[in-house]
Formats: sequence, C-alpha cells, structure tokens
Amino acid sequence: MADGTAHEAPASIESLRAENQRLRDELARAQRLSTVGSIAASITHEFNNILTTTINYAKMGLRNEDPATREKAFTKILSAGQRASKITTGMLSYARGGRDQKEPTDLAELLGDVLVLVEKDLKCHRISVEIDAAENVIAEISASQVQQVILNMVINARQAMTAGGTLRLTVRRDVSTGFAELAVADSGSGIPADKLPHIFDSFYSTKERDAQGQGGTGLGLAFCKEVVQAHGGRIRVESTIDRGTTFTLKFPLAEKASLAAAG
Ligand SMILES: Nc1ncnc2c1ncn2[C@@H]1O[C@H](COP(=O)(O)OP(=O)(O)OP(=O)(O)O)[C@@H](O)[C@H]1O
Ligand SMILES: [Mg+2]
Repeated sequence: MADGTAHEAPASIESLRAENQRLRDELARAQRLSTVGSIAASITHEFNNILTTTINYAKMGLRNEDPATREKAFTKILSAGQRASKITTGMLSYARGGRDQKEPTDLAELLGDVLVLVEKDLKCHRISVEIDAAENVIAEISASQVQQVILNMVINARQAMTAGGTLRLTVRRDVSTGFAELAVADSGSGIPADKLPHIFDSFYSTKERDAQGQGGTGLGLAFCKEVVQAHGGRIRVESTIDRGTTFTLKFPLAEKASLAAAG
C-alpha cells in the first residue's frame, strides 16, 4: 500500500505538470486573442478607409478616359490593395501564433511586423512613433512570443497616453553583455512608485474595462515577464509620473548562442 502510493506520487506530479503546461499555453493563447480584440476596431476602421480609397479611384478610372488619370487610379488601387494584404497577413499570422521554438530573429524586422498592426490605432490616438532600430540585431527568440510581448507593451503605452504623445522604440546590440536590447518608451502617465512592484503580477490592473470590455485583465505584463524569463532575458522598467515609462527588454544575441553552442 505504502509502496503503491510511492509509485503513484511521481506519476501524478507528472500529470499535474502537464496540466499546468496545458493551462499556461491556453492562457497565452487567450492573452493573444484578447490583444487581437483590442486592435480589431482600429483595423476595421483602416479597412474601411482602404475600401473608400479603392472605390473612389475605381470610379475615377471608369469616368476618365485619359491614360494618365487611369494609370494614377490603378496605382492608387494597387497600393491600397497591397496595404490591406500586408495587414491581413500580419493579423492572421499573429492571431494564429507561430512556433514557440527559438530561432535567430531580426528585432528591427519583428518590430516592423508589430507596427503594421498598430500604426493606425496609434495615429487615431494622436501618438507619434519614433523608431531608432539598429540593423542586423539578431536575437535567439521565439518570434511569435516576442511579437506578443511587444504588442502588449505598445498597447499599454498607448493606453497610458490618453492625450496623445510619443512612442519611442529602440533596438540595439550590447556586445559586451551578449544581449540584444529592445526598449518601448512612452510619454504617458507614468506609474506611481507604490504600484511599480506589482505591475508584473498576474491579474494586477489599474484599468477599468471599456465599452467593448477591453483592457484590465492584468495578464499582459505577467505574460511578458514569463516570456522574457523563458528566453533567459531581462525586463526592466523605469517610470516618472507625468513624464512617461520605459520598458527595456534584453534577449540573448544569436551570435552569443551560436558561440556557446560551438564552444
Ligand atoms: N506604459 C505604461 N504606463 C503606465 N502604466 C502602465 C504601463 N504599462 C503597464 N502599466 C500599469 O501596469 C498594470 C498592469 O499592466 P498589464 O499589461 O499587465 O495589465 P493591463 O494592461 O491592466 O490589462 P491587459 O493587459 O490585460 O489589458 C496596468 O494596469 C497599469 O497600471
Ligand atoms: Mg496590458
């Protein structure tokens, strides 16, 4: 009997671990879809604008016979279509989620993929975007997870800049430490010192749900922290009330990972 219990215990720990992992994956997926929800409205708006442009230029092309006007109309329709396709591709690949496997990923390109999804939303909220991204900063990361992390932080930044502001995105390489650095800085409300120790806790949120029921699950930063830790990275926050907040993420450079593997 005692023997039986001793044999069963490790098996049940195993199954609890598996269940824990399954729930974590499920939570990450739910978090991903909730983020999609918070940018869906602005993307639908943008599609409306793209369709208006397409319809107006198609009408112009049909009304005018001269080749120059028609060519202009076709060019506008083509670029509107290409923009729509870029957004749907980005949105679909984001919503589907990619492989969780870590692989060498260009951080500036990844940042670009996220911006396609949010630039309209930022513009609508009178937020200007400044990007200072060094080229060829290749980190050893799961692109889909880190994309979700960046999106969470950009949406937090937007929500903190209720009266508009500036979002500054920086990518750089710190060869001395072997880390790639990605910073998301806003000029928003800032975070009070007494709240700062709690922001990475699951379900900690200071946000009321809006009319669409969006915002305020308090899982965004908890997810960010978990992803960063799973990459052996770091996450740091600096904030000043009424001046803004900067989140700095560090991920291992791919060069360092390949050097470690080689030696
Ligand atoms: N850029 C920021 N500026 C000011 N406060 C922030 C910023 N980012 C996070 N916070 C604070 O940290 C809290 C936790 O953030 P987190 O992303 O985990 O949850 P949330 O944004 O409230 O909810 P959800 O992400 O589920 O919509 C926020 O409620 C807010 O108080
Ligand atoms: Mg959030």
